[in-house]
Amino acid sequence: MDRIRIKGGRQLKGDIRISGAKNAALPLMVSAMLSDRPLTLHNVPRLADITTMIQLLTQHGVEVSAVAGENGHAHGTTLVLKAGKITSTTAPYDIVRKMRASVLVLGVLLAREGQAKVSLPGGCAIGARPVDLHIAGLRAMGAEIDIDGGYLVARAPKGLRGARYTFPKVSVGATENLMIAAALAKGTTVLDNAAREPEITNLAECLAAMGVTVGGIGTETLTIEGGGALKAATHSVIPDRIETGTYAMAVAMTAGDVELVGGRLDLIETAAQTLRSAGVTLESTARGLRVQRTNGALHGVDVMTEPYPGFPTDLQAQMMALMTRAEGASMITETIFESRFMHVPELARMGANVTIHHESALVRGVPKLRGADVMATDLRASVSLAIAGLVAEGDTTLHRVYHLDRGFERLEEKLAACGADIERLKG
Ligand code: EPZ
Repeated sequence: MDRIRIKGGRQLKGDIRISGAKNAALPLMVSAMLSDRPLTLHNVPRLADITTMIQLLTQHGVEVSAVAGENGHAHGTTLVLKAGKITSTTAPYDIVRKMRASVLVLGVLLAREGQAKVSLPGGCAIGARPVDLHIAGLRAMGAEIDIDGGYLVARAPKGLRGARYTFPKVSVGATENLMIAAALAKGTTVLDNAAREPEITNLAECLAAMGVTVGGIGTETLTIEGGGALKAATHSVIPDRIETGTYAMAVAMTAGDVELVGGRLDLIETAAQTLRSAGVTLESTARGLRVQRTNGALHGVDVMTEPYPGFPTDLQAQMMALMTRAEGASMITETIFESRFMHVPELARMGANVTIHHESALVRGVPKLRGADVMATDLRASVSLAIAGLVAEGDTTLHRVYHLDRGFERLEEKLAACGADIERLKG
């Protein structure tokens, strides 16, 4: 298994190109199953999760072809997806267990084929993560869903029909599943208390390009007129806001100065405000955004994760790594996932001072971190350890790099190009 070795102490300086967003690309790829017309997606990142989604879609009968982007893989890939015929309505355990986002095929299979058998994803390193809201929403649209042998077995013999559904809790995945299903359901679907993440907006705009009328884009009430004819479409994946925020925090950690090319400051506004309070400068540029911490120490700031536009849970671990070196203390509260502090014991092995109390972690800044062998159980936790490694004294070796590869494209190359002493050790 690959490892990544980092020798701390170098400032990051230069440019980093931001890739397309994994969490936007995955539902966009699923939406290709809505019709037999091709969907062309630009700016798809090269990541293990995208490969897993291609595997899943291919076994449902989707033809997927990839064309390298304008400047090789550095500018992402263009995927052409064509679901001429759905050849299987089963999403097998072996694929779903690798990637929870596989459950997004439930809605589209039901809507197009009237049936679906999708493995239940089960829990994962960051929490129990049930799919009850996906199920309740699809039932409101007329689906019958049972659980048998670890699978969701769903039927809609008369097809899905538009419905009004109010999410009792904001869910990104359930909002996406229902939006995609609603595109083929007969009549109007109204989703209240829908997620407002930029990835949802990216999906809504793709559905619109395919010929679906979607109202309320960017708000918590989405209206989708289903059942119309769909057409071939071309759409671009938005830049990855989590990758953008992650590199901003890495730059801040090393007191560096980097332009995040292709990144968008407007997609990370809350995280940017938090970083500014901590003593970091962020400003939009013609090519993306520039992040600097050229004078002064980092200050401890409090953070609470919330659905968009709040501070993203997917940046919580990285922010904690940064706060381990701040002057003063920082209270970090995780409200989205119940066990998303798996990085804390590993940061502690590097000398961080963090105390967990229920859903909050009190981080007291320390003057230095020391390199260590560390490993993480999810991708955001993994990258938080890399951020700590950038300033730790001596070598940090990051194990289980396959977590990182699920969501960060060529991390070590991007950091090395800005001056980090970092390398991938094969095998
Ligand atoms: C998406 O997961 C992202 N994944 C996650 O990113 C991200 O952390 C999360 O949204 C929150 O922003 C993808 O987009 C592929 P949710 P998702 O449904 O859709 C509970 C990463 O690192 N819930 O918004 O699964 C759930 O347990 C990943 O890239 C239910 O109770 O998240 C959680 O507490 C990790 N019942 C909360 O809602 C349900 O049916 C929000 O989850 C669904 C969710």
